Amino acid sequence: MGNIWIRKSVALLKAEAHEAEFGSESPNLHRTLSLTSLISLGIGCIIGAGIFVLTGHAAAAYAGPAISLSFILAGLVCGLAGLCYAEMASTVPIAGSAYTYAYATMGEFIAWIIGWDLLLEYAFGAATVAIGWSGYVTSFLRDLHIVVPAVLDGAPFAFDPASERWTHTGALCNAPAVAIILVLTALLIAGIHESAKVNNVIVAIKLAIIVIFIFAGIWSFSTSNWATASNPSGAFIPPNAGPGEYGWSGVIRGAAVVFFAYIGFDAVSTAAQEAKNPQRDMPIGILGSLLICTVLYVLVSLVLTGIVPFDRLSVPDPIALGVDMIGLGWLSPVIKFGAILGLSSVVLVLLLGQTRVLFSIARDGLLPAIAARVHPRFRTPYVTTLLMGAVVAIMAGLLPIGLVGELVSIGTLFAFTIVCVGVLVLRLTHPEIHRPFRAPAVFIVAPLGAAAAVFLMFGLPRDTWIRFAIWLAIGLAIYFAYGRWHSRLGQSRMAQSRANK
Ligand code: ALA
Repeated sequence: MGNIWIRKSVALLKAEAHEAEFGSESPNLHRTLSLTSLISLGIGCIIGAGIFVLTGHAAAAYAGPAISLSFILAGLVCGLAGLCYAEMASTVPIAGSAYTYAYATMGEFIAWIIGWDLLLEYAFGAATVAIGWSGYVTSFLRDLHIVVPAVLDGAPFAFDPASERWTHTGALCNAPAVAIILVLTALLIAGIHESAKVNNVIVAIKLAIIVIFIFAGIWSFSTSNWATASNPSGAFIPPNAGPGEYGWSGVIRGAAVVFFAYIGFDAVSTAAQEAKNPQRDMPIGILGSLLICTVLYVLVSLVLTGIVPFDRLSVPDPIALGVDMIGLGWLSPVIKFGAILGLSSVVLVLLLGQTRVLFSIARDGLLPAIAARVHPRFRTPYVTTLLMGAVVAIMAGLLPIGLVGELVSIGTLFAFTIVCVGVLVLRLTHPEIHRPFRAPAVFIVAPLGAAAAVFLMFGLPRDTWIRFAIWLAIGLAIYFAYGRWHSRLGQSRMAQSRANK
């Protein structure tokens, strides 16, 4: 049994990555991702349900036209964490993201917790977006007069807030959501290169649709659309009507909601071991994709609230509604199609991220070694990909979207906090390490990033905290029953100390 606070040195992490790439006989991950592919992975994972679905509701209920300020605010919080991720990813360019960084800075126990937390973020994230994807697909098919039978179009159970009870919906499962997970799992097994190529194409289409929307909408933009019954003067920030309802508190509540739209930039760092030049490209990939998405989000939300009065935006497809409103109804199916493709790439990259985290954990001995097995021909961790594909497909098929969505935000914010703290710890304990990218003003940026993430976590409902605590408790049980006894690092340190005696 090893010491639970044991730390992996950065030198050992790098040596392991080198050994994995050049020195071992078993097959390993393939370094094929260029800078463009990394930025594209980031954008592929970031732009999804957040902008295509949530923006409308957040504008209508919380921020009004000032939803663009909410996007700037959420973008700033992510930017602080993004700078810390960029420094870590260039200093420790190894698969596993926050899990690996924590192993190097705060020890095995915290690393396990954060690895377990990342699995929650990515697995529940993939399930959430797959359920959203299914909603768009059934609506698109309905426009084409193809009806998916209700029994195959939803979760079998739903929570009724009025009676506070779970009720049976009559459906068997959400078949389209299951189908998309299975197809993308197969693609991921076929190869990282293939997956990245498909992702690049999807991202190009997704970006084109967003740019078309901005250019089509800008001509019809009018501040007169800011005026509504609750905002008769047409102010950019509608007058406050209660906590979190318009005014500045509404802008902040809106930021907590649209935070979901930024989740995913961190997934770039999970693929560090498949990047051609990780030390240079990881920071650019992370920060570049974040910057591009922030600019697009602000423009889309400005245009949207300038063409549709915000009180009409609480619909599942606000962007499609926007083009309808300016008389470009023919563009609406194109937008829906783009959203469907866009959501697919989010699911793809989230699935990719979780398999790489699981791979790293298993390689360290904290989970059974079979999970770290790489396919001899495809060079992908096929066992973890298959296993997690099956788990996520079951979740996406059976669970309602509300239950899974908020867990994703809390899991992500927790990971941000750990990475921000980790950067500081590494700066203090190992100031000498070569850091190809250094976060500017790190002693301000990192604490501010951690504090902002914790602040947003406290904005989430109590139930989400309880579910999160249950997830962590399951993780602790697994660690103390298995990981602690099988840790490769722990075992080798013990062997060393026995030899020294
Ligand atoms: N950021 C991703 C989305 O909005 C998770 O779908």
